[in-house]
Amino acid sequence: MPTKPVAGIILAAGKGTRMKSDLPKCAHPVCGLPMVELIARAMREAGVERPIIVIGHGGDQIEKLLGKDFDYVWQHEQHGTGHAAQLAMVPLSNFQGSVLISAGDTPLVDASVFRELLGIHKTSGAVATAATALIADPTGYGRMIRDENGKLARIVEHKDATPSEREIREVNAAIYCIDADALRLHLPNLKNDNSQGEYYLTDLLAAISQAGGDVEGCIFADHAILRGVNDRWQLANADKELRRRILKRHALNGVTLLDIDTILIGPNVQIGQDTVLEASTYLLGSTAIGKNCRIGPCTRLHDTKVGDDTVITFSQADSTEVGSKVWIGPYANLRPHTKIADQAKVGNFVELKNTSLGKGGKVNHLSYVGDATIGDETNVGAGTITCNYDGFDKHRTEVGAHAFIGSNSTLVAPLRIGDGAMTAAGSVINKDVPAGAGAFGRARQETKPEWAAQWRTIKLSSRSSKETSQE
Ligand code: UD1
Ligand code: MG
Repeated sequence: MPTKPVAGIILAAGKGTRMKSDLPKCAHPVCGLPMVELIARAMREAGVERPIIVIGHGGDQIEKLLGKDFDYVWQHEQHGTGHAAQLAMVPLSNFQGSVLISAGDTPLVDASVFRELLGIHKTSGAVATAATALIADPTGYGRMIRDENGKLARIVEHKDATPSEREIREVNAAIYCIDADALRLHLPNLKNDNSQGEYYLTDLLAAISQAGGDVEGCIFADHAILRGVNDRWQLANADKELRRRILKRHALNGVTLLDIDTILIGPNVQIGQDTVLEASTYLLGSTAIGKNCRIGPCTRLHDTKVGDDTVITFSQADSTEVGSKVWIGPYANLRPHTKIADQAKVGNFVELKNTSLGKGGKVNHLSYVGDATIGDETNVGAGTITCNYDGFDKHRTEVGAHAFIGSNSTLVAPLRIGDGAMTAAGSVINKDVPAGAGAFGRARQETKPEWAAQWRTIKLSSRSSKETSQE
């Protein structure tokens, strides 16, 4: 039997007043990714090809952050979660099947939650299935009201609940699986006669139940995963919780973590076996680290690929490719579009930008190399600077293989230095240097024998004549 199609809706149009922020709530990052993106990716992993995200407050920001991988529906005025779901059903007007719906502020929800919910929904044949959790402090959450047979009858919001209803510890996670037909039938009939004057999606479950439809409540034992974020303290705690879950996954995959309280690994980062992460290491975006590397302490890598057996210490890299058996740091700054080939070395206080460093190449100390290509086995001496910017345009510096750039060279681009060429220490090089040549771009040194002694004699005699005249 072919599996029924699944659609997905994420509600992210609210301002999130309790966040006290100019950024819309669902765009706030958790472990480096906007929380709505975490949910959208999880939904996709569970089988929803293109989740529909309802945006409104700060919607442009969310669209810009998440890009074209998802579909968007605008809710210009926020009249509640029921109203948001109704708008999201417009592009699904002909869709037949189950619709996963999630709030955009439950960042710990992963694909397994959606899969489990879908599975239970299909097996039970229910019209609607809601994810719930039993928690010690249910303040703020909607409470699940079950009938005498234990069936879900309705959900009451905290603000609308009676004192005895507030005693109920089973809460609504705002994650549902509902048949598309039921959504189309009941959403237009929701009422806003509640404490907030909003159309609640939660009331849909009561409507289905009253119409004789079966409504299931699926209690998740791992309740932390369903936690909603409504203020910055909940955000900080969600970040901490997801951080620990990601760290644990990598640890169990064979990564050594030397300080779990200070290491942050983004949700989409890959790390090979036997790699060691030291304290205060941040691996973000689509960073991928190979096997047997040592990263940190105090290192931040974003969208960076690293091969095997590489060491990166006290450094940062953004959109950089680093090969295998490379040494980087301490205090290297690798800016976007930098490529470092195998066995190369980038040492202390070195900045590379839009630069390729060849196999076995070395830039060991105190250098800025920008918009450059440095060939295999070339050594760039301490204090070398590429002058890549003339105040208007950027220019490239190309250095061949097995070349030697003397310490404190100033390379004025555009410039080509051939294979095996050398530049003298302290040179300003502004003309191309052919392969095998030596280039000297500095004042010639003149050495005068006995000069120092003569200089001291002159100085001392002028000082003693001054002292005599003052007496
Ligand atoms: C909601 C549920 C509550 C549940 C809790 C779980 C309702 C009425 N209440 O409460 O039962 O226990 O989540 O975390 O659904 N949104 C829109 N458009 C709107 C209003 C909200 O898109 O007009 C979005 C928000 O951006 C947010 C989500 O819907 O991502 C939920 O809204 P929020 O205000 O956070 O509801 P809660 O009070 O947390
Ligand atoms: Mg919420």
